[in-house]
Amino acid sequence: MYSDLVLEHFSNPRNVGSIPDADGVGLIGSSICGDMIKIFIKVKDNRIGDIRFQTFGCGAAIATSSMITEMVKGKTMEEARGVTNEAVAEALGGLPPGKMHCSNLAADAMNKALDDYEGKGPRKSRKPLIDKGFGVRGGREMPSEEMKRPPER
Ligand code: FES
Repeated sequence: MYSDLVLEHFSNPRNVGSIPDADGVGLIGSSICGDMIKIFIKVKDNRIGDIRFQTFGCGAAIATSSMITEMVKGKTMEEARGVTNEAVAEALGGLPPGKMHCSNLAADAMNKALDDYEGKGPRKSRKPLIDKGFGVRGGREMPSEEMKRPPER
């Protein structure tokens, strides 16, 4: 059963959308369910000045995406890295055991956006944006220009 807070964030998600001139973008997908989360960050004075997300996934994935954006906005890079999937789930009043992987997605996507900003991500190192180890079959490297383009409608 979902908490009231999960249902509230699912019904009224915060910070949905993209940042066209993002300083960092992180995309992660799950082999368990096929859901995907993409997080965009804009950095100002070593803090997350703005953060947006696009989630193709379940209600828990949307709620955890929404919650993590609220938790890390205004934080330094180091502070943001300290926000774990367990902390996100806890802030939402808990998740059903079978849905804990949904909060992993949100935390991993946020960390990938931080990696991207800090130059360890695919734009500099050409590492695949979609972590094949995490299980997205057929994941491919996404050129930075493609990442910046708004999603097709
Ligand atoms: S079931 Fe896929 S992220 Fe929740």
